Amino acid sequence: MDNRPIGIFDSGLGGLTCVKKVMELLPHEDIIYFGDTGRVPYGSRSPETIVKYTRQDIRFLESFDIKYIIIACGTASSAALPWIQQEFTTEICGVLKPACQAAVSATRNGKIGVIGTQGTVRSGKYEDTLKELDANLSVISKACPLFVPLVENGHTEGQLAYLAAEEYLLPVKNAGVDTLILGCTHYPLLKDTIRQVMGDSVTLIDAGAETAAVAKRRLEELDLLAEDRKGTARYYVSDRVEGFTDIAQMFLNREIEGCVKQIEIEGY
Ligand code: DGL
Repeated sequence: MDNRPIGIFDSGLGGLTCVKKVMELLPHEDIIYFGDTGRVPYGSRSPETIVKYTRQDIRFLESFDIKYIIIACGTASSAALPWIQQEFTTEICGVLKPACQAAVSATRNGKIGVIGTQGTVRSGKYEDTLKELDANLSVISKACPLFVPLVENGHTEGQLAYLAAEEYLLPVKNAGVDTLILGCTHYPLLKDTIRQVMGDSVTLIDAGAETAAVAKRRLEELDLLAEDRKGTARYYVSDRVEGFTDIAQMFLNREIEGCVKQIEIEGY
C-alpha cells in the first residue's frame, strides 16, 4: 500500500490520453501531470534536445514524492528509454513496449502500421520493438507532423483534421495493415477522424491507454497501489494555464479549473 502520487508527463495535452485511462483503472491514485506546453512539439526536435527535456520533466516530477513515472510521450520514450531509467531511482515506464505488445496481440495478418512524430518514426524504435516481439511482422511507419499542432489548437474534428489524416494515412491503409499503433499520445484525440479514414476493420492501438494498463499491473506487482479512497489530480504546464485547461476539461470530461499551475521547467 502506497499513497504517494504517480507522475505522468508529455510535451502537452497528449499524455492526458494516458491520464484518462489511469483515472479509470486506478481511481484511488493521486496523479501529478506535467504538460510541457511551452516547448511543444517535441517531435520535430533533435534526440539530444528531447533527452534534455525528458530529464528536466522527470526531475520536476521527482520534486514531488512520486512512486512511479509514466513517460506518456512516444517521442520522449523513443529518444530516452531505456537508459534514462538508470539515471533515476523512481521506476519509469514508457509507451513503446505496452503499445507494441497490444498490437502484436491484435494483429491477424501480421501487418502493423505505426504513426508518430518525426522524431519517433526516425528513431525506428517502434519497428525495432515490434520485430523483437515477432520477427515476421511487416511494419509500415508514417510520421504525421501536423497532428500535434492540430490537437494543441483544438482541431480534433472537421475538415482540417480530415484532410491531414487522409494525406498521412492513405498509404498506410493501402499497405493492408489490420492494426495501427497511434504511437504519439496526442493522436487518440483525433481517433474519430483517424477511424473515418482507416475504416472499422482496422484495430487502433492507443499507446497511452495501453501503458496505463501496464502501469496498473506493475503497481500491483510492487505492492504500490494506493488505499481505497478517491484519487486526486494536479496538473502543471510550462505555458499559459488557460489554453491547456479548456481542452483538457473537454477531453477528460471533468472540471480541472483551479488544479492547473504554470511552472518554470528550465529551472529543473
Ligand atoms: N505526445 C507526444 C508523443 O507521444 C509528443 C508530441 C510532440 O510534442 O511532438 O510523441
